[in-house]
Amino acid sequence: MSRGFQVPRGTFDITPADSARRARILEAASRLLSRAGYGRIETPAFEDTELFARGVGQATEIVRKEMFTFADHGGRSITLRPEGTAPICRAYVEHGMHKLPQPVKLWYSGPFFRYEAPQAGRYRQFAQIGAEAIGSDSPLLDAEAILLLWDLIAELGIDGVELRLGSLGSPASRAAYREELADHLGKHSEELSKDVRDRMAENPLRAFDSDHEGTKRVMAQAPTMLERLDAQDAEHFEALKGLLDENGVTYRVDGTLVRGLDYYTRTVFEFTCDRLGAQSGIGGGGRYDGLVEQLGGPATPAVGWAAGIERLLIALDAPEPEAQSDVFVMAEDSERPRALAIVTRLRRAGLSADLDLAGRSRKGQMKQADRRGARHTLILQAGEPTIVRDMNSGEQREVADEHLADELSPPSA
Ligand code: HAM
Repeated sequence: MSRGFQVPRGTFDITPADSARRARILEAASRLLSRAGYGRIETPAFEDTELFARGVGQATEIVRKEMFTFADHGGRSITLRPEGTAPICRAYVEHGMHKLPQPVKLWYSGPFFRYEAPQAGRYRQFAQIGAEAIGSDSPLLDAEAILLLWDLIAELGIDGVELRLGSLGSPASRAAYREELADHLGKHSEELSKDVRDRMAENPLRAFDSDHEGTKRVMAQAPTMLERLDAQDAEHFEALKGLLDENGVTYRVDGTLVRGLDYYTRTVFEFTCDRLGAQSGIGGGGRYDGLVEQLGGPATPAVGWAAGIERLLIALDAPEPEAQSDVFVMAEDSERPRALAIVTRLRRAGLSADLDLAGRSRKGQMKQADRRGARHTLILQAGEPTIVRDMNSGEQREVADEHLADELSPPSA
């Protein structure tokens, strides 16, 4: 027999057991974000390639190496979205959301695509939950965004989490800093990895991310952007830290925090979890005050984050709670049509009800009822009234079919 087809490398199926755990994360995020005034937005899974080239940045790994890009039948260059922030800013401009009361708070969830080397926690199709608050430069907005991800992680019960916090300043101060950093790298170029050396001019900050020993030694001596913030950016960063302190958020200030996307200004942050291996980032984000304008909209400051659902799941690592259903109907062969009629009526009354559809014996049906975690089983025998068995107490009683829905509905809280 041939082995049949398998999912493409770096992708995976979401089976019913997985989807129950994912739904729990999504429900928690939806509750938390909608309470905070975030409206759900959904954008297409693919966009014009140019949106990401311009939005995420030509020099980034994502744009250089990781995009799934193809020409459609009309010859347009299309890219499967590698991230959500540029598409949300596109939608903000396209729908004239700058005319709404600001800030506009949006959240989203869905699949994203990056051609990365697959490993545990790193896939080529993965899912993110993201939140973007567009239209204010107040540090209150940064603090609120970070608090929401902090609370989501806490609500999910994930332990061993660290929040790293930094600031990249504004474009003007960063340009001066980049020159200073490039200068420092230039002085030590023989000690650097080839990759860092090749991209030194384009993006010297990425050198902070290198695993190369020599590079790490050089970077330990390098000035950080945090030490070069101008007065306003430093004030913004101080205000943010104060707000986080007041709300019980603990964090580590990290001047070497660089993110893989070029749109960030001022605040950057990343949540890592020690339960994950090398791919320890469960969520991250920051401020991107120039992006909306760069994509053709009015100058609009904004901040946001995204968290990877698969990474949250690994960090969570909790078994799925046992399935529980209200009713399982056991029937001898001649009574199977009656069993279907009964479960239909019970389902219409809002109960979860099931029956054996595989011709199992009485014993097999009993086992099936157990597996479903049914609170009650019904026993149908030809010419006999229906028997209701309480699976906890073992008590049995006869109930007329027309009263079953009333009898079996769980007491309302
Ligand atoms: P990002 O850090 O590139 O940021 O991705 C956010 C999260 O997505 C990561 O922390 C990780 O949990 C998950 N993730 C990324 N790549 C993969 C992958 N290959 N496999 C599994 N999970 C992955 C962004 O995407 C920004 N758009 C976040 C943002 C929103 N910044 C401002 N607003």
